[in-house]
Amino acid sequence: MPHDPDPSPLPPELSADEAALLADMPALGDVGQARRTFMLQTAAGGVGVFAANLLATEAALAQMPAAAGAASAPVKALNAVAVTLQINGEPRALSLDSRTVLLDALRERLALTGTKKGCDQGQCGACTVLVDGQRVLSCLTLAATLEGRQVTTIEGLAQGGQLHPVQAAFIRHDAFQCGYCTPGQICSAVGMLDEARRGHVSHATADVAGPAPRLDDDEIKERMSGNICRCGAYPGIVAAVQDVAGGAPRAQTWSYATEAQLAAARREDGHATV
Ligand code: FES
Ligand code: FES
Repeated sequence: MPHDPDPSPLPPELSADEAALLADMPALGDVGQARRTFMLQTAAGGVGVFAANLLATEAALAQMPAAAGAASAPVKALNAVAVTLQINGEPRALSLDSRTVLLDALRERLALTGTKKGCDQGQCGACTVLVDGQRVLSCLTLAATLEGRQVTTIEGLAQGGQLHPVQAAFIRHDAFQCGYCTPGQICSAVGMLDEARRGHVSHATADVAGPAPRLDDDEIKERMSGNICRCGAYPGIVAAVQDVAGGAPRAQTWSYATEAQLAAARREDGHATV
């Protein structure tokens, strides 16, 4: 494996293990060189092990071959496997490191960055997508296990310029603030509504042997409990899901302020300019 051609002097604080790791680093081009410099600097600052882990992860990602439209320009795959995924209805053939999770394949290889990485360990739901219509955590799903499967991301929900009903309901009910959790919330809600239609019960279902449960607030909260929103937009999220579950979209509960309203508000605040 080729070594970095620039043997920068190591700071005295670098441990023997860190020095060996750096020596084993493949050449990564300009970006890798900048990161190697970063590694050397941070090692001198006492956070070398963290930086080494980060750098090793990024080195593995950087060695994977690029797909059309990919954000990075990798060199070669480690443990390469060929897999064809049906992404939002389009076949996408990839050669992937066998350890690549679906989340990284979507974001790093296919430039589909609508799916978000939150915790990267199955705790937050930000990475939720649909596989064959069922919601999955893409950070815990190996892409190589999905040969031929239908993957739907937030980018694939709108059809023909029309938002998916759940997307439209999220807007009507102001169901987000920063929006980081929102793609996962929406994909999760789409999958959950389908589960409920097919009669799946939940921990909140009173009669598990009865007919398909009605999606009241308790059912929605329980079924969406794997999707965390740090902004606390839960009331709007529950209302949006209720709206779609009820089958009769409610009117938007908010509107943008008009110019006249803004001018009046500025006058009340004592601003001279309106
Ligand atoms: S990023 Fe997958 S669950 Fe948090
Ligand atoms: S809208 Fe910000 S985390 Fe949910």
